[in-house]
Formats: sequence, structure tokens, C-alpha cells
Amino acid sequence: MSTARTEPTVTVVSVPPADVDADLLALPVFGGDDLAQDVGGLSAASGGELARARASGEFRPKPRETLLVRAVGDGWRPPRVLHVAARTGAPDPAAPLREAAAVAARTASRLHVGRLAFVCRGNVDPVRAAQAAAEGLVLGCFEDRRYKSDREDPTLRQCIVVADEAADADLPAAAARGRTLGAAANVARELAGEPSNVLTPRVFADRAAALVGEAGVGVEILDEEAIRSLRMELLLGVARGSSEPPRLLVMRHEPPHAKESPVLALVGKGVTFDTGGISIKPAEGMERMKEDMSGGAAVVGALRAIGQLRAPCRVIGLVPMTENMPGGRATKPGDILTGASGTTVEVTNTDAEGRLILADALWYARELGATHLVDVATLTGACIVALGHVSSGLFGRPAAWVDAVRGAGERAGESLWPLPVGEEYRELLRSEMADLNNVGGRPGGASSAAAFLEAFAGDLPWTHIDIAGTAWDDKGREDRAKGATGVMARTLAGLALDPGAW
Ligand code: BES
Ligand code: ZN
Ligand code: ZN
Repeated sequence: MSTARTEPTVTVVSVPPADVDADLLALPVFGGDDLAQDVGGLSAASGGELARARASGEFRPKPRETLLVRAVGDGWRPPRVLHVAARTGAPDPAAPLREAAAVAARTASRLHVGRLAFVCRGNVDPVRAAQAAAEGLVLGCFEDRRYKSDREDPTLRQCIVVADEAADADLPAAAARGRTLGAAANVARELAGEPSNVLTPRVFADRAAALVGEAGVGVEILDEEAIRSLRMELLLGVARGSSEPPRLLVMRHEPPHAKESPVLALVGKGVTFDTGGISIKPAEGMERMKEDMSGGAAVVGALRAIGQLRAPCRVIGLVPMTENMPGGRATKPGDILTGASGTTVEVTNTDAEGRLILADALWYARELGATHLVDVATLTGACIVALGHVSSGLFGRPAAWVDAVRGAGERAGESLWPLPVGEEYRELLRSEMADLNNVGGRPGGASSAAAFLEAFAGDLPWTHIDIAGTAWDDKGREDRAKGATGVMARTLAGLALDPGAW
């Protein structure tokens, strides 16, 4: 099968926009006042086209809107200029650049352009600007046409970040980092978009191992027997209903000379298809449940970038992989399972399977010496109700660790919104028979799910990220193709790249 990833090369130049050698030059525009500015004499070069579009209101600086003009005048090298309206007043000034760069790349791809240049304008630190622009350009190139027989090779092969002329920082390194992080998200998108008949737990494990192995990350794939030896009955209990065996993917980034601690553990839900099991889901929309391994895909993408960028701290990546199917041997409502930690769980609803497999993986992360835990999962419909498709839910403790993860999300342009967890939500999970019930009722469903996971995090700093609403975009936008978003791959990688921040 071909790949959905078609990352272009990304280089940096520091020359005036008019001198850039590219087929298309993209220029972010920040609001009406900015539109009135005449960058490099483009007004004249466009033969009055720019002024006309501005006066007629044809081009308004509404975020992500574009205006394409031909640069006919002398002195302009790029034959066409794409104005991209960028957000103003964003809390992180790099975010609008990332977004505008993605719009530019998507537009350039549609125009079958080969070389696209993007001008880093606005009041942004030049290193952050170059990284954000490169990230956006690479993210904007992603379009999943793997299964279309009429697909063509993408024409956009070369992106050029046009940096501030005065900057003396290492901008090529910043752009390379942005490209790697964008590509990490695209890896996650490619995995998450794969149908479940192709991406079974075994295939997921093999592909993930290849993707991170290439980046110098250590990998081990635990098969059913190894999982059984670890007594992970929660993972096995979910896998029982399927004829596809489960896997536990263990990835290790161990930089030479890294300190003993911290050891960051990233744990991702890897349910390659969630039918709900015996508590089966309604048919309508069930096809979307191939995305239920998006948390695992984000962890794989992150580990790949962490290896490629040689993050300075130790990182463990864990992805429990299984299908959730209603087979003849499936776990049934009322069954009681014993997790690897010894905790017993009454499975009242087999559709609350994510927390079961994550519980065993969180326990294993502690066994492997993790000092800090983050798990990512398409965990609850309740989180979609709470936050829609904009922010991912963020749960955890202590507050400092939650803030650190939220900060990493902010720098990556991936919104995380805190929701509560703790003792009182844990009480919703009381079981007559076992230590815990796997469901806590509809009210507060995202928080009781988080409280279930918390019971397996021991005393470690732990955060849980619910991406049920953000892992998939079924509309698409000017800056983003429809489908898997790869959300959290860049946030998690950013966390490992900057352990000083926590
Ligand atoms: N994978 C689902 C959650 C989900 C829903 C992800 C929609 C993405 C989009 C999860 O396994 C699930 O089924 N959760 C149940 C839990 C309930 C039974 C307590 C839910 O949210 O309905
Ligand atoms: Zn489910
Ligand atoms: Zn699920």
C-alpha cells in the first residue's frame, strides 16, 4: 500500500520576499491594517490587483481566507502571491503562522505547485516562527488518498521558509525540527486513518515498530503469551472476543548520558476497532471506531520524533493493541477480571474497554521505572459532549504536572482543557463484587473514566488526555484535510524535547 505521507523538503532563506525563487509565495496577513501594508512593493507588482481586491472587499482578513494574485511587475521573482489571512490576538503568536502555513500548503497542493515559499511575518521569535511555519507546511501537505486508484503523486516537493533577514539564530535547525514534528503528526494520521481490516493489532505493532525503529528507538512487541505471563487480564479480557490476538508495544528512547530520571511514560489506547463488544454499539457511525487507536498512533508518532530529534530525557512508549469484538468467548457484562496490578474489575459495560487496557499498561509503565505518566485515548463520548471537537480533555495530578502538559499543548497549538478527576469521581465506580466497576454512569462520564485510570497510576504524577472529540475531523478546514488529525503527537514530543519545563 502506498503512503499518505508526502512531506516536502523544507529549507530556510533570509532574503526579501520579492527575491525568493519559488513558484508561489505565501504571505500571512494579520488583519485589515496589515493588509494595507505594501510588502516589498507588491501593490505595484500585482498591477493594482491587490488594491482592487482590498477596496472591493473581495479579500477580507478573515482567518484562513486567501487571495491569489499574479505578480506581473518587474522586480518580483515569484510569479504568484497567495495572501493568507492569519488570526490576530492568539495567545501564542506562533499559532497563526502555523495555521497560515498549512493553508498555504493545502492551496499550493491544489494548484499543483512544485515550490512554495512562506514568509514568516508578524511579531514572533524567529526560531519559533521558523519551526511553526515548517510544521504548518508539512501538516498542510497531508491528504490521505492511499486507497484512491486515481491518485497522483503530489507536485509540492519543496517548501521554503522565508525568515526575518536580521535573525542570526539557527533557523535551519528550527525548520528541521518543525518538519520532523509535522511529520510525526502525519505518521499518526496515516495510522489512524487505516481501516481496521488492514490495521489489525499485529499489523499496527509491526508498522509502529518499523516507524520508531528507523528513528533509533528501542522496540519490543509483546505477544499474547508474553501479555499472559504479565497477567494482564484486563487487556486479555478485551481481546477475548476477537480472533485477532492482542499486542503490547513497548518503545524505549534511551539517550546516551541521559540522567536516570525523569523517565517519561507515554501510554496510548490502541483499540484497532471498537464494536463495543457484547455491549454492542449502534450500527450508525460505527465505522468511525477504526479511529479508536488514535491515542496509540499519537504515541508512536511522538516516539518517532523523539528519537529523530534526540530528546534529552528517557521516554517509554506503551501501546496496548487489541480489537473490541463480540465473539463467542468475549467478556460479558458482569464478568470480573483481575488486572496485572492485582486490582479486580467488574465489567458492567464491555464498551468501556479503553480504560481496561490502559489500566494494565499504566501499571506496566510503573514497573518499567516511569517517573511521570501521560496517557492519551479516544476514551469517552462524554468528553465530546463536554468539549466538542475543539479541545482535548485534560485530567490529572498534581497541578504542576497537569500545567506542564497543558503548556506543551499550547506551544504545539493543540488545545487541552482541564476537567476534574479524583476521589469523588472514583466513588462512582463502586462495585458490589469487585474493587472497581468499569463504568460510573452517564453524568460526569469523562471524569469517572479518568478516575478509573487514576487508580492504576500509583503515586506518580499522571495526566490523562481524552481525544475522543479531537482525533478525527469529519468536516476538514482550509488548513486541514478531513480525517485523522494526529492530535497530541506533537504535544507529547514537545514534552519530551523540553524536560526543563517540568
Ligand atoms: N471508543 C469509545 C469512545 C469514543 C466515542 C471515541 C466516540 C470516539 C468517538 C469508548 O470505548 C466508549 O465506547 N466509551 C463509552 C463508555 C461508556 C460505555 C461508559 C462511551 O463513551 O459511550
Ligand atoms: Zn468502547
Ligand atoms: Zn473505545
